[in-house]
Amino acid sequence: MSAENYHFAPSEAFARQAIAQASLYAEAKADRLGFWAKQARELYWHKPFTQTLDFSNAPFAKWFADGKLNISYNCLDRHVEAGNGDRTAIFFEGEPGDSKQLTYAELTREVKKAANALTALGIKAGDRVAIYMPMIPEAVIAMQAVARVGAVHSVIFGGFSAESLSSRIEDAEAKLVITADGGYRKGKASALKPAVDEALSAGKCASVKNVLVVRRTNQDVDWVEGRDVEWREAVGNASEEHEAQAFDAEHPLFILYTSGTTGKPKGILHTSGGYLTQAAYTHKNVFDLHAEKDIYWCTADVGWITGHSYVVYGPLANGASQVIYEGTPDIPDWGRWWSIIEKYKVSIFYTAPTAIRTFMKLGSEIPDKYNLKSIRVLGSVGEPINPEAWMWYRAHIGGGQAPIVDTWWQTETGAIMVSPLPGVTTLKPGSAQVPLPGVSAAVLDDEGHELGRGDPGLLVLTEPWPAMLRGIWGDPDRFKETYWSKFEGKYFAGDGAKWDEEGDLWLLGRVDDVMNVSGHRLSTAEIESALVSHPFVAEAAVVGAKDETTGQAIVAFVILRQNQIEAAGNDADVSKILREHVAKEIGPIAKPRTIIVVAELPKTRSGKIMRRLLRDVAEDRPIGDVTTLADTSVMDIISGKIAGGAND
Ligand code: PRX
Repeated sequence: MSAENYHFAPSEAFARQAIAQASLYAEAKADRLGFWAKQARELYWHKPFTQTLDFSNAPFAKWFADGKLNISYNCLDRHVEAGNGDRTAIFFEGEPGDSKQLTYAELTREVKKAANALTALGIKAGDRVAIYMPMIPEAVIAMQAVARVGAVHSVIFGGFSAESLSSRIEDAEAKLVITADGGYRKGKASALKPAVDEALSAGKCASVKNVLVVRRTNQDVDWVEGRDVEWREAVGNASEEHEAQAFDAEHPLFILYTSGTTGKPKGILHTSGGYLTQAAYTHKNVFDLHAEKDIYWCTADVGWITGHSYVVYGPLANGASQVIYEGTPDIPDWGRWWSIIEKYKVSIFYTAPTAIRTFMKLGSEIPDKYNLKSIRVLGSVGEPINPEAWMWYRAHIGGGQAPIVDTWWQTETGAIMVSPLPGVTTLKPGSAQVPLPGVSAAVLDDEGHELGRGDPGLLVLTEPWPAMLRGIWGDPDRFKETYWSKFEGKYFAGDGAKWDEEGDLWLLGRVDDVMNVSGHRLSTAEIESALVSHPFVAEAAVVGAKDETTGQAIVAFVILRQNQIEAAGNDADVSKILREHVAKEIGPIAKPRTIIVVAELPKTRSGKIMRRLLRDVAEDRPIGDVTTLADTSVMDIISGKIAGGAND
């Protein structure tokens, strides 16, 4: 029997203690809004809400709009007030091996001090604060402090370049940047502050008044007097008293940039009450969190949505104890993650399929050396998990019995939307299975007809949900156009999907020009515009090709400006230069795996590049239908070139 056909019913022992119950589905179906209102009441409201959903100005939704709350109070103070101040909130493990623990009382105190420091720097409710940090406790403290004072954070992943950083700071007009001298990654100190300095240089990012700098690696950094501020002084000397003020449920909480189908990243906007409701609800039910005894670890960086919802907000709102690890999984060796699970007795572990496939390739001897008996629940996110990787994950990390929750969601959805519930759902490797209680999804054909079981189509969400994005920062038209224009009144996710014969959902990958590389979202257009910004490149087309480990890999087809290359000296290593250039423009994660030099690109008569054909080439398949090409001989030349070994 192939792995796709396996079914794993929950064990009786697991089901007996499970947080989630099958009755949740019926309850939510009977009264969807009442169901979400009930979940929202698990939070502390300074002013309770009386309205649940206002979708009268669709697609702009308001949830719990007349209620008021403070996000950070919900994540911190209320646990201390409930007598759980001594519970560990964060077990921090630095890459070099240093470690530190913060209880809820300690974390609350640090966040209060940081909130006072932000106020002293002139940060007020509604101001935007950019955060560019390594995975250290201060990243969590900074995000919580920004939320506490009602400001709006925009976290930029530390792997993004100065160029990406500055365009995001400018788009959001951030007043403050919080960063660190550097962090430890891949066995060495990796600098961050120089990228901030570069992002703010030459009159760029004029909105930024201050840069708040955490010392982590103690490497030398340039210092701009009057602008740069030491975290250890500003936060270290701040008062520990800070009363959290209540903000409207729809007060903006954060902007997170993600790649779309154009060259310009979208600033996805999330607000407060609905977001926290769904982040907390899903974290508790999907991971079966028993906060008083579980040790939870999500390996995502705070630079991505998973790090927001399932490191900073969901777990803290639920009073969970969690591990935060700074570095990469291979330092000092590939056993590092498993040694961390053993050390902290991690019971719930959430990671991405690309990591699982990497470990699978390295061999089970590595995890088998560690005691992973503490694991009870495993999670997967970011891309489809292939059944083989699912089975390996369960066998070697989950002791052959831990339920695996394959969670489908997006930066835009804010929280998990489709996933099994451990202890309730009979698991099926490879499928994300069913919409969570309170979530409504459908699979449509191109004309918007609902498809039944077995037919692949486009995934839509048919009803608004609490953690849904509230818009694209500064661009309401793009918000409507991207998500709500394809199918009237329905949210178009950009993913292909199908229901199987048993009614379980299978995700089939993106249907637009968004790639998914190691669970990271990248746009073909963004990389193309980075490539053509180099003088060597006349034209570029980028496609995502299937890759065994990373899901997809970036393959770029470029037409070169020969005269420029000659001017630079004929021995220029074009591939290397262009890959470095993309790393500089966007970040190392966007470097093409392969650059293929071509004389022409396949285009339709109207000039549109036919990426489908390039994907055939990149994936080494027979070339599909070329009849709409302006010049049908182009593909012969391109594929002949590949066969001739132009691939690097
Ligand atoms: O294509 C889907 C894929 O990741 C996309 C969202 O990317 P991002 O906004 O960066 O968020 C990633 C973390 C939530 C989706 O449109 N995706 C995410 N999770 C899954 C998935 N594809 C299949 N199965 C999943 N579990």
